[in-house]
Amino acid sequence: MKVGFIGLGSMGYSMASRLAEKGFTLFVYNRSREKSLKFSREWGAEECRSPADAASLSDVVHIMVSDDEALMDVLLGGKGVLRVVRGKVVVQSSTVTPMASYRAYLLTKESGGRFVEAPVLGSISEARKGKLISFIGGESRDAELMSVKAYSSKVMYVGPVPQASVIKLAINAMFLTITASLGEAVALAESWGVEYGKLFSAIKVSWMRGIVERYENRSLNPQFPTRFKMVLAAKDLSYAFRALRYRGFTSLIFPAVTNTYLAASASGMDSRDYSHVVLYLRDLVRGKLIKSLSSTP
Ligand SMILES: NC(=O)c1ccc[n+]([C@@H]2O[C@H](COP(=O)([O-])OP(=O)(O)OC[C@H]3O[C@@H](n4cnc5c(N)ncnc54)[C@H](OP(=O)(O)O)[C@@H]3O)[C@@H](O)[C@H]2O)c1
Repeated sequence: MKVGFIGLGSMGYSMASRLAEKGFTLFVYNRSREKSLKFSREWGAEECRSPADAASLSDVVHIMVSDDEALMDVLLGGKGVLRVVRGKVVVQSSTVTPMASYRAYLLTKESGGRFVEAPVLGSISEARKGKLISFIGGESRDAELMSVKAYSSKVMYVGPVPQASVIKLAINAMFLTITASLGEAVALAESWGVEYGKLFSAIKVSWMRGIVERYENRSLNPQFPTRFKMVLAAKDLSYAFRALRYRGFTSLIFPAVTNTYLAASASGMDSRDYSHVVLYLRDLVRGKLIKSLSSTP
């Protein structure tokens, strides 16, 4: 099967590498060319100069870009996928709003193509090992999902578009809120002179053990390599509350958590791992404590 891959960022590069390793013939496109050139050198894939080129040469075209705007750019832009999508399948894995996913579905259908939502849980290392979890929205035929199965350990069919995007956003908003609240718990402890290690030991004897075990060596280690960028975490949270508001409901928690990730991003941590929101919140307290100690007469 000929597979197009649009978007070779951290995730796209890893997912496409897995497909190359599994023997798929790949046609790759990335907005900044150095990544697609590197990929084609590394994996022998054909480098394409536009999303339309990648789509026209393939049967199934994967999209893995940052956000709603990027998705619309690669679909609708001057040399976008929709120009050549008739008879082809678009597999859209970027984390986007349900509104954007549904629009992309309608536009693809109007242009004669088929659209499958396939957002993923897991990150770079899971993609490389074929251990992502893929949520599928839309009418998909098994044969079209061979490439999705090649990078996934679980493929879950959830219903019509945009239900897969809704599920993906709900899960991300939840774990990003948990991570930020761990950060504020650490800040609370340290503001009262309780060192974070002592707090972690206390949490570990409760049902929340798994949360600390997942984050203790990651969230407070500035050297931990980025798996998922802080700024993309803020994007996902803002999409979650926009999606709730779009349905006419108020979001109380997600806006506050979005602002926390945005503040961490604005402090220079935008490309750092999202888990460093814990480090950011702890250091806010540490910085203030140091200031208040040094200003003590
Ligand atoms: N990292 C993770 O662990 C993870 C896990 C699950 C889902 N996701 C989701 O997967 C998507 C990609 O994440 P990532 O971590 O790979 O991000 P990333 O490393 O920042 O890559 C973003 C990709 O989008 C492309 N892009 C951005 N704006 C564009 C535009 N206007 N037109 C065309 N291409 C554009 C970038 O091209 P350039 O190289 O030219 O900038 C790059 O290829 C996001 O929606 C993210 O939320 C990420």
